Amino acid sequence: MSTTEDLPVHLRGNGAPVYEEQTLTNVRVTGHIPAELNGRYLRNGANPITGMSDHPFLGDGMIHGVRLRDGNAEWYRNRYVQTPFMSDPDRVIIDMGASLTDMTQSKANTNVIGHAGMILALEEGHFPYALNGNLDTLGPTSFDGVLTGPFTAHPKTCPATGELIAFGYSMLEPYLTYLRVSADGKLVQKENITVGGPTMMHDFNITRNHVIFMDLPAVFDIDLAIRGEMPITWGHNYPARLGVMPRNGNDSNVTWYDINPCYVFHPMNAFEDGTKIVLDVARLDHIWRDGPMDFPPPSLYRWTIDTVTGRVAEEQIDDTPAEFPRVADSVIGQRHRYGYMAAVPSNDAFANPSLCDGTILKYDRLTGGRTSIELGKGRMPGESVFVPAAGGVNEDDGYLMTYVYNAASDTSDMVILDAATMSNEPIASVHLPRIPFGFHGNWVDASVAD
Ligand SMILES: [Fe+2]
Repeated sequence: MSTTEDLPVHLRGNGAPVYEEQTLTNVRVTGHIPAELNGRYLRNGANPITGMSDHPFLGDGMIHGVRLRDGNAEWYRNRYVQTPFMSDPDRVIIDMGASLTDMTQSKANTNVIGHAGMILALEEGHFPYALNGNLDTLGPTSFDGVLTGPFTAHPKTCPATGELIAFGYSMLEPYLTYLRVSADGKLVQKENITVGGPTMMHDFNITRNHVIFMDLPAVFDIDLAIRGEMPITWGHNYPARLGVMPRNGNDSNVTWYDINPCYVFHPMNAFEDGTKIVLDVARLDHIWRDGPMDFPPPSLYRWTIDTVTGRVAEEQIDDTPAEFPRVADSVIGQRHRYGYMAAVPSNDAFANPSLCDGTILKYDRLTGGRTSIELGKGRMPGESVFVPAAGGVNEDDGYLMTYVYNAASDTSDMVILDAATMSNEPIASVHLPRIPFGFHGNWVDASVAD
């Protein structure tokens, strides 16, 4: 592991990549893994195969997974996603040619989901990459040739219909495309959506009947792209807007609402409330205004779109820096009560995790209250994924899963926490080798993909 000062900050400490692909079948467990959990906890992240990446978003996708069955951790595996960069690691990542037009040129490093029997590694500029249950790469997928452009890393599975609602954005026209994948995995709708220009649209929102696009001032900069740098900058004159469209609608049905300039990587959830639409989001005041590592601290905000007056109310729910918002999959697009986030450590603690007090936050939308899991000094969690308990009654009857980095031992645990009680003590900890910090993960139940 390299921790030398000459490496960029994102590759130091537990940002350093791991190179060995491991399969461990005798992993040590503390506590008791609930016997009802039958599936895989999978998480993706950027893990540059060369050991170097110019930006934290540009490393090669590596999936870390734990297979749970019958109360056991059957295996831990980590696997690179076998993209074209594996055999040609010096291939240019950002250019004005292949990276924009060849949809197989993905780093596949941002998210991993299960849908309709498929496990898909996702990155927002290209096609998804399909994996098998042992995390071996099957290859890029275009949904039988229907997908011709990028596919977001943040599609949403509607709990009411089972559809996978998605979109793609591009620096080339069409800048924005709406995508709807049926519950059985067919890409059944594709609509070009008119926006004011090419922007980085990392995520979006669904409700029971609508999608809400976030057209925000993270604009494409061709000069940066030509230089091979992260080609996005803050657009001082680009208006920030939310676009509401019926889920089976098209470009002519989009209503746009002006909001204050800001950036949102990740919404927590959205839902309809009569003629209003409520969105809870992790909001940044701006992004990439002062350079490629300009990420001011995000915090939880609420936007309420009044579809009658055309106005959007904005309210800060909490000023605690926090990211990776999630709700239970069962309430995506519906009125949720609980949302979970990871407290964002200071830059000093990120660079030196032994200083970090890892904290998982739980927001109660009904009471306005907030509780937390304190993991202790030198223990840093990633995004928490909610997994329902068998026979659960309340929305929070279930588990939070995440990888926690232990700075003292330079190892990681996959922890299973009680989402209802938010006890600091894990129900179970699966003790693993070091897992570098990453992006997004999901519980892929064996009933979804096996
Ligand atoms: Fe993301």
